[in-house]
Amino acid sequence: MCGIVAIVGSRQAAPLLIDGLRQLEYRGYDSAGLATLDSSSNCGKGVLTCKRASGKLVHLSKLVDSEGAPGHLGIGHTRWATHGKPEKRNAHPHRDVSGHVAVVQNGIIENHRSLRKDLESQGKKFVSDTDTEVIPHLIADELKLLQGEGRQPCGAMLKEAVQNVTAVLKGAYALAVIWVETPDALVVARKQAPLVIGLGEGEFLCASDTPALAGFTRTILPMEDGEVALLTPLGIELYNSQGERQKRSPSLLTGNSQVADKRHFRHFMLKEIHEQPETAELWVARHLPAGLPIESPVAMPFEESFYEGIESIQILACGTSRHAAMVGAYLLEQFAGIPTSVFYASEFRYAPPPLSPHTLTIGVTQSGETADTLAALDMEEKRRNAHGDLAFASRQLGITNRSDSSLARQVPNILDIGAGIEVGVAATKTFLGQLLAFYGLALTFASRRQNRCPTEIQDLLTELKAVPNHLRKLIQKHDQLSEALASRFAETQDVIFLGRGINYPIALEGALKLKEISYIHAEGYPAGEMKHGPIALLERRVPVISIAMPGVVFDKVLSNAQEAKAREAQLIGVAPEGPETEIFDELLPLPVVSEWISPLLALIPMQLLSYHIAAHRGLDIDQPRNLAKSVTVE
Ligand code: F6R
Repeated sequence: MCGIVAIVGSRQAAPLLIDGLRQLEYRGYDSAGLATLDSSSNCGKGVLTCKRASGKLVHLSKLVDSEGAPGHLGIGHTRWATHGKPEKRNAHPHRDVSGHVAVVQNGIIENHRSLRKDLESQGKKFVSDTDTEVIPHLIADELKLLQGEGRQPCGAMLKEAVQNVTAVLKGAYALAVIWVETPDALVVARKQAPLVIGLGEGEFLCASDTPALAGFTRTILPMEDGEVALLTPLGIELYNSQGERQKRSPSLLTGNSQVADKRHFRHFMLKEIHEQPETAELWVARHLPAGLPIESPVAMPFEESFYEGIESIQILACGTSRHAAMVGAYLLEQFAGIPTSVFYASEFRYAPPPLSPHTLTIGVTQSGETADTLAALDMEEKRRNAHGDLAFASRQLGITNRSDSSLARQVPNILDIGAGIEVGVAATKTFLGQLLAFYGLALTFASRRQNRCPTEIQDLLTELKAVPNHLRKLIQKHDQLSEALASRFAETQDVIFLGRGINYPIALEGALKLKEISYIHAEGYPAGEMKHGPIALLERRVPVISIAMPGVVFDKVLSNAQEAKAREAQLIGVAPEGPETEIFDELLPLPVVSEWISPLLALIPMQLLSYHIAAHRGLDIDQPRNLAKSVTVE
């Protein structure tokens, strides 16, 4: 996690670094810092200024405004703490003992303990608990060695020192380095963590993600794994891990990747919840245009060969994306008839199941940067391609909201959910977008395999086309209902969410949303499992939110809800109005729709209730504690 940005050019670097970091705050906001080099008055050498502040970027911004950080070259960092508490002394940039080398890093240096021990045994003093601090010490030592060979300090020397040091670093990381002896050169390097170079007018930048570059330039050059780059006011030099110079053409940034504003909404999360009818409308327009034949009812961006011979599907994802994957698996199995399994990417990468033939592997990640998901997909591709038998060859598909992400570069087939930039750390409209992507896939597979008759396909298509309108009405209604209900949760410490079948993942998602933004402990359970243990938790003070939508398990869920009511739990139903649902103490009503599409509507009360409970508690909804929007560490 963490976001890094680096710039060299003709303008003062500090305000530009702050602007860039603002676009990267979604990657972490435990602390922020920057270092600049000013060469105006030091006989060719630079004067290094380093400013760091704990907490959000605004604190660093104020510090830089009041104390200044001169120079046309600099590096910046916004931190999500991995090694060491979120305190100022652990904030980046980190420096060597002399204070001549400064480094920002995103990722984890896995062998930092042994490196630190060696450096300490040589008398180096460490001032932070971070894994990063070994890097400036190592680079400073390398530079000393290179200078000892009689060479004059220059950008190439700094690049060489960084190359030598990255050769001993283990882990996944991206870093940027400056050195007082080369005030017009900075070096960046990446290994399994994203880094994109921006080519501006008279300035060159580098950042963890494109939104940090979009305010400066639309010409970008994503760095490849293992590459090191030297940036000076004259241009960039790119080298691969063997030290060979690389020549690649830059590409153009598409779409608006700059962070949007909140409009009249109090929080980005609320705005993004309200944008969901539009997300669905765009999806319908793109994928369900009029006039498609019933044998191919969804417009998909894939070749014929993509679908051929698939016998099973495995889906790898984390967090909310995994919940979307679970709904997807239900649709792919129950509607399209393809055996499908869902895995936590973080588990799969170390304990994959035995290889199955003719298997499609789907990675779901809204950011396209989740380290575990990328690594699990990479591992799966390698082990399949190493197998030798074509039946086991790798076939992969990525579902993401970022067509310019690492996932999009790694995986050959991409479904872009096109939900637009999501700023709130809690995923909302991207969850809907991921769900819709799975409806598209399930419909496509079902009709190609003739697993459903044309009327069933047509019915689902008709219902999907009506989803944007349902969402519009529901959001209006539930915004008010949830706000009114939220005050009742002022003292609540535990909440149970129940669902079954296709809505079990929505119960999980409801619990996750509540936990992450309101800090209330919540559990999502398959309703039928309650009596096997968790029912012991129930009592008067524990609300139970039960999703009960007409369909195969409707009566079962209502019986499970009754069991909770008998234990005096407060019962909140997410269900249609009617005599059966009178058992609920409180009803968050949904329209009667087919069970297939019910998750698309049931998610709305989950999101809005969590939002209003957190808002009622006065919490920092868009940037909840300890979280980050893009989880780029393992
Ligand atoms: C929850 C949330 C996280 C993410 C998870 C995976 O609201 O946002 O649980 O879903 O970190 O992120 P992506 O989808 O970027 O792989």
